[in-house]
Amino acid sequence: MTDVFQIVLAKRPVGDVTADCFRKETAKLPALNDGEILIASRFLSLDPYMRPRMSELRSYVPPFELDKPLTGGSVGEVVESRNPRYAKGDTVMGLLNWASHTVHDGKGLRKIDPAAAPLQANLGVLGMPSFTAWYGMKHICKPKAGETAFVSAATGAVGQVAGQLAKLAGATVVGCAGDEQKCQWAVREAGYDACFNHRTERDYGAVLDKLCPKGIDSDFENVGGKIFHEVFARLNNFGRVAFCGAISEYQDKDPIAGPPKMFTIVQRRLTIQGFIVSDHAAMLPEFVAEVGGLLKAGKLKSRETIVDGLAKAPQAFLGLLKGENFGKLIVKV
Ligand SMILES: NC(=O)c1ccc[n+]([C@@H]2O[C@H](COP(=O)([O-])OP(=O)(O)OC[C@H]3O[C@@H](n4cnc5c(N)ncnc54)[C@H](OP(=O)(O)O)[C@@H]3O)[C@@H](O)[C@H]2O)c1
Repeated sequence: MTDVFQIVLAKRPVGDVTADCFRKETAKLPALNDGEILIASRFLSLDPYMRPRMSELRSYVPPFELDKPLTGGSVGEVVESRNPRYAKGDTVMGLLNWASHTVHDGKGLRKIDPAAAPLQANLGVLGMPSFTAWYGMKHICKPKAGETAFVSAATGAVGQVAGQLAKLAGATVVGCAGDEQKCQWAVREAGYDACFNHRTERDYGAVLDKLCPKGIDSDFENVGGKIFHEVFARLNNFGRVAFCGAISEYQDKDPIAGPPKMFTIVQRRLTIQGFIVSDHAAMLPEFVAEVGGLLKAGKLKSRETIVDGLAKAPQAFLGLLKGENFGKLIVKV
């Protein structure tokens, strides 16, 4: 029997996640049944949506189970197979345990070509976060020349791609990020017209008035809370909001109220659309063709933070909720 190193949910957080919400353990893996495969994880993606899943709240995905390994988007290698669709040596991606190895029934996995791109890119600029940015920009924000597009968490895994897509569409693009180095990268490398530091800026309204003098036509919303309230107040007639996430609120004990003056939605004929990228999986080939093409042509930059060793995943996840990652956060298992 193979030993597996895994990280389980030890307790549900109330408010901020703490290190004791996770437990590292070693367990024995059972022998495979017919139809099952054993996957050795290579890379694990850490994502903000994991925070709501640690709570018991009803959502679009069920909560993580107590005393069971957490799961996350991963790339791994099949090391044993009793499933005719997979052979030893196949590289696969899908939802795997926060563990060195996962026993899997093969459903929902995708085989990938390990030679096509660095393995971890399948979790970032060629994966779910980038697909999220592409869908929200192309189908909801629809930026164009002459317009102003705003992106919060502008250098995060989703935001960095969202901002560059808006720029490629010809819009003036303004973002916010959590430190000077990130803001400089946004402007110098990702092509944002401006980016403000939301941790040092005291008056979000004043800085938005300065950087978006013609108002805001589209908002790719990753952060929610106070930043969103100020952006909302500055949306132009027929403005669009791709409501992708609200990371500033994921640790709050009570849900934060939405922006005041909701009748603005009617007065300015706004479209505010929440979306979950997995609902649009049928568009994956279109995304891969478009964004893969931009990458090959050198028109898309990306940043990632790679943490070495699964044991460091809990600490890295706590850091993600404080903005310590720069770009896509990935654990090299
Ligand atoms: N709807 C969907 O299908 C979908 C799919 C993927 C992701 N999402 C959402 O998209 C958003 C971005 O995800 P991501 O994968 O790109 O995450 P990420 O950027 O890798 O990590 C989150 C970033 O958010 C910023 N942040 C954290 N706490 C913040 C706070 N209190 N106020 C302002 N900024 C804060 C931090 O950057 P700074 O240093 O800049 O503060 C941090 O690096 C999240 O809300 C996530 O839940 C939604």
